[in-house]
Amino acid sequence: MTTVALKDVTKVFPDGTIAVDNVSLDVNDGEFMVLLGPSGCGKSTVLRMVAGLEDPTTGAILLDGELANDLPPRDRRIAMVFQDFALYPHMTVGENIGFPLRLSGVDQQPRGERVADVASALGIGDVLSRKPSQLSGGQRQRVAMGRAIVRRPGLFLMDEPLSNLDSGLRAELRAEISGLVRELGVSTIYVTHDQAEALTMADRVAIMRKGVLQDVGTPTQVYGRPATLYVAAFLGSPRMNLLEASVYVHLDRYVALNLGEQALYLPWDDIRARAVAHYHGERIVVGMRAEALTPVAPGTPGDVLQGRIRYLEHHGHESLAFLDIGATAIVVDDLGGPVTDTEGANGTSRLRRFGHVMQRLTGRVGGEAGRPEPTGGQGNRTSVLSDPGRHHRRPAELAVRLAPYPAVAAGHPLAISVRMDALHFFDERGDRIDVGWR
Ligand SMILES: Nc1ncnc2c1ncn2[C@@H]1O[C@H](COP(=O)(O)OP(=O)(O)O)[C@@H](O)[C@H]1O
Ligand SMILES: [Mg+2]
Repeated sequence: MTTVALKDVTKVFPDGTIAVDNVSLDVNDGEFMVLLGPSGCGKSTVLRMVAGLEDPTTGAILLDGELANDLPPRDRRIAMVFQDFALYPHMTVGENIGFPLRLSGVDQQPRGERVADVASALGIGDVLSRKPSQLSGGQRQRVAMGRAIVRRPGLFLMDEPLSNLDSGLRAELRAEISGLVRELGVSTIYVTHDQAEALTMADRVAIMRKGVLQDVGTPTQVYGRPATLYVAAFLGSPRMNLLEASVYVHLDRYVALNLGEQALYLPWDDIRARAVAHYHGERIVVGMRAEALTPVAPGTPGDVLQGRIRYLEHHGHESLAFLDIGATAIVVDDLGGPVTDTEGANGTSRLRRFGHVMQRLTGRVGGEAGRPEPTGGQGNRTSVLSDPGRHHRRPAELAVRLAPYPAVAAGHPLAISVRMDALHFFDERGDRIDVGWR
């Protein structure tokens, strides 16, 4: 099937918007590539350039190794599925699916057979004679998929095809689409702003921000070893805890990561210690996902942080505690809304945070030392981390997983053991600090 290569592709619209900024990306034969990023980061523009609906301003687009910049869309063997998957309302399901074949002059008999095959593969074989208005949202989306598949394209381009559906159906169709596409062996570029969707469906994920490609890799690679602070913040639920730390090297002992009121110590036998030691006297960002943090009994020795629970979020299968550990969080901007899988919960937590701010402002803090709100990244300190518009600071609320409905409440102290080998480090520019590269 078709391979795709973008070489230094930039798209500047006539109004000066740089929608895609020097992107290079390969999609291998039969690969399911997911383009992930917040709304407006340039995903659809990439897709439309691959389809031939937009011309790149500079750079090359290669299909099967051949320069395709000037190839008309109809010669690209591409099928595209959009978010609004417009079906023809006056046609039956069968006619909708068969329409591209009719356009290219395929006779009724073979057309009918192909339509029946595709429909049964999609589990809509029994609704072929219905009109789109008589279908559920999921069935309609399957018809749209069917219409894309029926011409046996070499490449699928899918632009947020599930984002109009409710979450249950979305999860079901995710598995179906990726299963089906793999069965067909068709190379696919699938666009979404939903990180959970990307991680569950992709062979590889390409993460974009403001037209710039941030990282490309398998879900395991980009989740386990994000190339930038942005990717670290974008992937995962709950979001990665990102704490500001100042680095202090003790040559005979360890590299201290001072997090404010507490510190963690990176031993010299950790292979990353030398890379981090390079930042002696400077501030870096330390990332810790909830899975790197385990509640332990008070007084447990080792790599332990002491915190106090600010609030809890109950998700049924687990509860999240958000701890005050006297540290400063780096909040990455333009992540494009809450992490989708916990939309409701995140909404609540925002409200709660708002409640905490109100409490601090009104002085009703219930024994907590009210700390001032951060003033944001307006260069209040000379740190290179104060890059206005990219991230800002606030008192850290460390997300920690607990058993469902734990016997603790807001205000309780909690000791947390930290898996030092699971920490992530980022420099002032938001680039990963690490040894070597994957
Ligand atoms: N025809 C256009 N003219 C000018 N700006 C555009 C046009 N199409 C898209 N853009 C801008 O380019 C950027 C990327 O858009 P798009 O590729 O649609 O992003 P995404 O699909 O990731 O949401 C956005 O800032 C958008 O407003
Ligand atoms: Mg789009």
